[in-house]
Amino acid sequence: MVIKKSEKKKNKIKLIEDKSLKDYVKNTSEEGIHKIEEDSGEDDKSIATDEIDGFFEDFLTKESIFKDKQVLQVSYTPDTIPHREKQIKEIASILAPSLRNEKPSNIFLYGKTGTGKTLSVLHVVKKLKNVAKLKKVELSVFYLNCKLKRVADTEYRLVAALAREFGEDVPFTGLPTDEIYRVFVKSIDSKRRNLIIVLDEIDQLVKKIGDEILYTLTRLNSELKQTKITIVGISNDLQFANYLDPRVKSSLTEEDINFPSYNALQLQDILSQRANEAFNENVVCEGVISKCAAYAAREHGDARRALDLLRVAGELTERENNEKLSIKFIDSAEEKIERDLIYDAIKTLPKQSQVALLSIFELHVKSTEKVLTGEVYEKYRSLCSSCGLKMLTQRRLSDLISELDLLGIINARVISKGRYGRTREIKLAVPVTNVNILSKELKTWLGI
Ligand SMILES: Nc1ncnc2c1ncn2[C@@H]1O[C@H](COP(=O)(O)OP(=O)(O)OP(=O)(O)O)[C@@H](O)[C@H]1O
Ligand SMILES: [Mg+2]
Repeated sequence: MVIKKSEKKKNKIKLIEDKSLKDYVKNTSEEGIHKIEEDSGEDDKSIATDEIDGFFEDFLTKESIFKDKQVLQVSYTPDTIPHREKQIKEIASILAPSLRNEKPSNIFLYGKTGTGKTLSVLHVVKKLKNVAKLKKVELSVFYLNCKLKRVADTEYRLVAALAREFGEDVPFTGLPTDEIYRVFVKSIDSKRRNLIIVLDEIDQLVKKIGDEILYTLTRLNSELKQTKITIVGISNDLQFANYLDPRVKSSLTEEDINFPSYNALQLQDILSQRANEAFNENVVCEGVISKCAAYAAREHGDARRALDLLRVAGELTERENNEKLSIKFIDSAEEKIERDLIYDAIKTLPKQSQVALLSIFELHVKSTEKVLTGEVYEKYRSLCSSCGLKMLTQRRLSDLISELDLLGIINARVISKGRYGRTREIKLAVPVTNVNILSKELKTWLGI
């Protein structure tokens, strides 16, 4: 497996070489790493004496339920990709002319999250590179996830990163954008070749720096004498192409390919294949795969969610010292994944919103009934004084409650109370079982 990284480590663009692409999502950040060494052994008493040491030793003697856990990680590239045969063939046939030194059409791939877009494109370009190498065809393929910071957050950085991949020693900032394009063009045009640039999560790029860069990149071909650039754009924002400048839209979407969401049966196929590779025989109980698939198909058929469920369920099974992954672990895994998602969302909330949420949580712990804005305000006031926070008016609190509703943590519905005016009835949108754990976290963050 080789994804040849640029000499300069900061550069997150990856030049795709043959063999495997397992590492394409690996985080290459090296900041803040601290290497822990084992004890020197001089102080023998510190070794294998406490409870944790015993725990680790037990862990090693136990047979794992996993045969190869890595198979369930996001970074794993499966050998076969069921239910994407049509899309894979389409991408392959659009890109194939590059093997004859002809310019392929630009492609735009779209579909909801977890529908196999990244996987399918990388699968095809990897095979394409293999054949190009074998047939000695000049073909360079770059993959860039535009969500990553540093490279895709200015036009300059992106083009500079590409130029660097061709061995140009360009500074990280400083040159005018025109100049960086000139260096890039000169560099790639030194010999006859095809250059395929895969811009994954391309909507993020346009959100950050606008769509002019796509226009420029696609039009560079008219300046180039020997090289031909093809853009493969990928997005899970189904409306993305409609917001583009019509000129950009028409060149980016010369061909477009839809990735429909998987249905529950298709997810079952994907999961079964992975489960066979990931778990030891007879570990996964009957009904587990279909339940995972059904859960992941509830909103839209998302293979990432399905695989996450199976992996987390496996981890919970192991943590509880169970030898069988039974259906109950899927429910626990679903709860844990939901909780982690909410945890991430509420951790970054402003303190005032955290107090508002904690007030709602505390009222719900006492009674699972719906609560009214007035009651929340009372609770909010007392919590504010506990954590020394300035109290907002009831009206402002009401705005915060609306924001929490938008985040999907609660449901707030306006109800009329006749001549007493209107109030809001608040219900939880997260499982009650998660509320206690989340309340505890909120209290820690607020110092209560
Ligand atoms: N048909 C499939 N067969 C096997 N695994 C699949 C299939 N489709 C998706 N997966 C797996 O599901 C996960 C998500 O797939 P992928 O990253 O390609 O989704 P995506 O469409 O690019 O999603 P996003 O828009 O969120 O980036 C990956 O772990 C991938 O290996
Ligand atoms: Mg993707």
